[in-house]
Amino acid sequence: MPAIDTIPPVPDPAHAPPTRGVVLRRAAQLYDLLTPLMMFGQEGRANRRTAELLPLQPGGRVLDVGCATGALTRRLARRLDPARGGLALGLDASPDMVAVARRRSAALPCRFDIATAEALPYPDAVFDAVVSTFFLHHLDRADKLRALCEAWRVLKPGGPCLIADIDRPYNAFGRLTVATAEHLFHQPQIGENASGMLPELFAAAGFREVRCEGRFAGYISVFMMARALH
Ligand SMILES: C[S@@+](CC[C@H](N)C(=O)[O-])C[C@H]1O[C@@H](n2cnc3c(N)ncnc32)[C@H](O)[C@@H]1O
Repeated sequence: MPAIDTIPPVPDPAHAPPTRGVVLRRAAQLYDLLTPLMMFGQEGRANRRTAELLPLQPGGRVLDVGCATGALTRRLARRLDPARGGLALGLDASPDMVAVARRRSAALPCRFDIATAEALPYPDAVFDAVVSTFFLHHLDRADKLRALCEAWRVLKPGGPCLIADIDRPYNAFGRLTVATAEHLFHQPQIGENASGMLPELFAAAGFREVRCEGRFAGYISVFMMARALH
């Protein structure tokens, strides 16, 4: 049965769903242009690494949490075969981001939903894999944990989860970048990530076999983990 039939449709809400997360709305049109400039291309490297590391069958269903304009969702969708049920599903709380993602993804086995990561609108254990890049630093500690528990819930037992985000800086450039970003964007959630709390939250959400698979630019880590089989 095609995957699209097994994951119930999520109607677009009339308004952006409520969240304490830092939702990017006006940035949507310029996001793909500005992000590589602001991050010196490091987000592209980390996203490519995340996509390379993710084991995915052509008929797999993958969820991209905090997908923004859907660049990673599309990268993953190109590995999927819709005839075998393959589907890449991007989720973001910003209707503006989702509108851009949908426009750019015609003809690919993608779907984009407007919802929050803290309350995923999907049944338990329906995704073969979950990914999320540069998203958790948009949430405070309690909501990071809620979002991770939700990612764990919708992932099939044994399924992989890959997360790339700001982590404890390990060189002077990383320390400077993180401190600048935290103050420039008035985003204390960035400082929480930089305290190195992510692995502890992954474990608290139930993930096992957590390991760091790549580090970039002095402050970005790519983590791989799994929902245990039992
Ligand atoms: C920095 S962007 C990351 C985008 C993308 N994953 C990437 O690697 O380029 C973070 C995204 O998270 C979204 N966001 C913020 N709070 C959210 C929430 N509670 N639930 C879902 N998405 C949220 C923002 O609207 C934004 O598009």
